[in-house]
Amino acid sequence: MSASASQSVTWSEEELKSKVGQLFIVGFHDHVPNEDIRSLITTYKIGSIVLFQRNVATAVQLLELTNSLQEIARSSGHDQSLFIGIDQENGLVTRIKAPIAAQLPGSMALGATGDPNNAFEVASATAATLASFGINMNYAPIADVNSEPKNPVIGVRSPSDDPETVGRFVSAQIAGLRQGGIVPCVKHFPGHGDTAVDSHYGLPVITKSRQSLDNCELVPFRRAVAQGVESIMTAHIALPGLSDPRPGEKLDEVPASLNPKAIDILRKEMKYEGVIISDCLEMDGVRATYGTEKGAVMALKAGTDCVMICHTIAAQIGAIELVIEAVKSGELSQEAIEASVQRVRKLKEKYLAPDPIIPTSSLAEMDSRIAEQTRLASIMYEKSTTLVRSEPGSLPLKAAPEAKIVFLSPGKAPLPGGAVDSGIEKTREPYTPSAYIDILRAEVPSAKDIRFLENVPLSTTEEKDIAEADAVIFATRNASLSAYQKDLGLALGKKLGSKMVVVATCDPYDFLEEVSEIKNYITIYEPTVPAFKAAVNFIFGKAKALGSLPVGTAINQHEVRIFDGSEKDITFVYDLYNKLFPQWAINRDLLTKLLNHPSGQHFVHEHGFCIAYLTNSGHGKITCVGVAEGHRNQGIGTELVTRAQEQLRGVAYMVGLGDLKSLGIGSVFPRFWPGVPIDFPQEVKEFFAHRGFQKHTTPTARDMYRDIRQEVAPAAVLDRVSKLDLTFAPLSPDKYEECITKQRANFKQIGWVQAYERLAAAGQHHEVMVAFLPDGSQVGWTLMCSASSVVGQDFAYLPLLPSGDKTGLIACVGVDASGRGKGVGLALLVKAMEDMRRRGMEGVCIDWVVIRGFYETLGFKPYWEYEGFDW
Ligand SMILES: CC(C)(COP(=O)(O)OP(=O)(O)OC[C@H]1O[C@@H](n2cnc3c(N)ncnc32)[C@H](O)[C@@H]1OP(=O)(O)O)[C@@H](O)C(=O)NCCC(=O)NCCS
Repeated sequence: MSASASQSVTWSEEELKSKVGQLFIVGFHDHVPNEDIRSLITTYKIGSIVLFQRNVATAVQLLELTNSLQEIARSSGHDQSLFIGIDQENGLVTRIKAPIAAQLPGSMALGATGDPNNAFEVASATAATLASFGINMNYAPIADVNSEPKNPVIGVRSPSDDPETVGRFVSAQIAGLRQGGIVPCVKHFPGHGDTAVDSHYGLPVITKSRQSLDNCELVPFRRAVAQGVESIMTAHIALPGLSDPRPGEKLDEVPASLNPKAIDILRKEMKYEGVIISDCLEMDGVRATYGTEKGAVMALKAGTDCVMICHTIAAQIGAIELVIEAVKSGELSQEAIEASVQRVRKLKEKYLAPDPIIPTSSLAEMDSRIAEQTRLASIMYEKSTTLVRSEPGSLPLKAAPEAKIVFLSPGKAPLPGGAVDSGIEKTREPYTPSAYIDILRAEVPSAKDIRFLENVPLSTTEEKDIAEADAVIFATRNASLSAYQKDLGLALGKKLGSKMVVVATCDPYDFLEEVSEIKNYITIYEPTVPAFKAAVNFIFGKAKALGSLPVGTAINQHEVRIFDGSEKDITFVYDLYNKLFPQWAINRDLLTKLLNHPSGQHFVHEHGFCIAYLTNSGHGKITCVGVAEGHRNQGIGTELVTRAQEQLRGVAYMVGLGDLKSLGIGSVFPRFWPGVPIDFPQEVKEFFAHRGFQKHTTPTARDMYRDIRQEVAPAAVLDRVSKLDLTFAPLSPDKYEECITKQRANFKQIGWVQAYERLAAAGQHHEVMVAFLPDGSQVGWTLMCSASSVVGQDFAYLPLLPSGDKTGLIACVGVDASGRGKGVGLALLVKAMEDMRRRGMEGVCIDWVVIRGFYETLGFKPYWEYEGFDW
């Protein structure tokens, strides 16, 4: 370590090591704490441990394992317990299995039930199981959109191929885990669904544009962030489209997990404050490109809080040491490490019990929990089993003892000679559990079992059994990616017609499209025993198949088009708007003007509309979205908002404003509501929150109002104003140049100067009040607009205030930097109101007030109040 470098770190060696240790998530290969994990906990003060199936043998063993890991941490001086996490996604990825846990349905099975409440219930059940074993974190749910059927990593681990549906299920799963005291970790940001390369074995590159990512992959993550999800796992996938390259710029193929641009989307754009975790850095997506150890430094440098290394002690220690070196050398900032440590600490404080040790006697409840969850699961599997199609009369099959039923399923192919099994069980190997035939034989004991293999033709006996069968049940596992399954299925389908029933035990795509060859097609979304049992129950008429396909059905496709400004479109929006918002009624002329404002980017659907504007300074505003009653909850509102968002983004680029500076609910000019009125129903606010718009934590905005018929301000205020050495007069054309020059110098970034320019252009200088110093120079300005002025006409709701058409507007009050803090602003308001009263106005509105107490001294009271929501 160089002398100068050491000076940059203010922590002692021990402190540095334990801080870095808190940011590591490590795995180990044993049923009991071995030397490796002991030393990682005691020497390196590791903060989190990830368990796999390899760490699970029995219930007592698992609980004793987590207890002893916590005990080691406590006795070696950790002042907080360990996070102990696992990938208990359920379905295909179930680390804790029978007999010590009930098999619960995975995400796509839940998606097929169509009801996110089911996802909530299953996540709560999962949380109860994990908590009972001392596991406090689940690396779930999967927020990837299964938009690429060939994706070898995600597939049925995702609830659907529709981003909004994924968002709804993910949100429910987060809530269920959270309620059960388990920290959820949403993965794999920014979306692993659209790749045909498995990042365990290579670096997938997704070449989608930022806009497409916004419309698909990022949708569920945005929603999870708005929900305040505790942690997010990043993926080793390159998404060069995350930031559109400028001409001549090289595509950025650094995986998202190591890429500051990707992390910035979470931290800067979405303002995410939770814990960001990298996926395992020993996966090829990083190991084979940058190396695990260097990957750890890169991930932290990019803004990740915690890095995961699951397998190799040398890589784990190597990475920790390299990170420590990087902090010492200044490559990693001490502040950033501290910020990450604090995020982890805060999350631990919230979730971890001060005493994490769970008595083994508590396992007495295990059997009843398993029984209860098994019941829950069987209800869910009945709801998820999907009859995609069937030939009338072919189902159910009769379970008569003499029935000739043949069951065909893909078996495990023998390893080619000399090959060594790596010991890694790939999740998508196309074989099916042998337990399936037992399930079938419980119905028809004589059912014949045929395992078919790649490159091994069926025997003559098998061919004969099939030909003589009353019915053939043909199970597939990801046949769409496995030619031999596909070929045999199609050949038998052609031969057997409606006598064959295909059960796709994993991906539902296997024979989704082969309608003429495969007459009876059932999908169950996971090769688990209870999912198959539910299919068998259905096949033999003992249960229903209540699921519907969560993929390939183009959910939520609605015809939304750009508002064209025609009389027809205006009438449609006018009628629906006034029906939906009777308390905010707008007359047709005013609404027409507002809709036809050049910054408008509106959309219409047969049953809904979205009013949106792009501000001059490049902010997107979704102003008002409405869907007719009777047509809600079908995705129309979402589609309208999505299209408007897309359009605002596209137009901002086209007119040279670059990336949208923000996207919020509300409006600036023209003005409807500055945000969402606070008295709007909760479901409307949730609609926006669920679309990823986060509620502001800043004070609400208010439109303030006062009646000016009797007086414009309390006597004390008037007295104070009269003592100021200032004069006041409405703006005149000859004073405009000075006014606008000073305004531009003072308020360029605020963007209200434009209102002054518009008034002048319309010859309405007198709608501005100016404060003059004794030497005649201008020192302050305010708009004091009548409802009929060009600015007043931008405000949809002025006529709704008690003074109706005689309502004036005070806005854009500004004082030159040289004259602030001397009461000029207050005086301007008083003088403006006096002038407005002279002009026949009876009440005044000051809109979008966020400060408290100032306007109240002038007698203003809040009239309307709004909450802000921003992307
Ligand atoms: C707010 C409003 C515009 C939403 O419109 P909508 O068409 O009902 O919106 P969507 O159908 O896209 O989404 C509503 C819910 O239905 C769900 N949904 C959509 N399609 C679905 C489907 N096929 N199956 C099940 N649920 C579905 C959505 O996921 C969403 O639920 P979530 O928020 O839990 O995710 C509508 O309620 C409305 O017009 N309200 C009155 C006007 C108003 O106050 N507007 C706000 C002023 S700015």
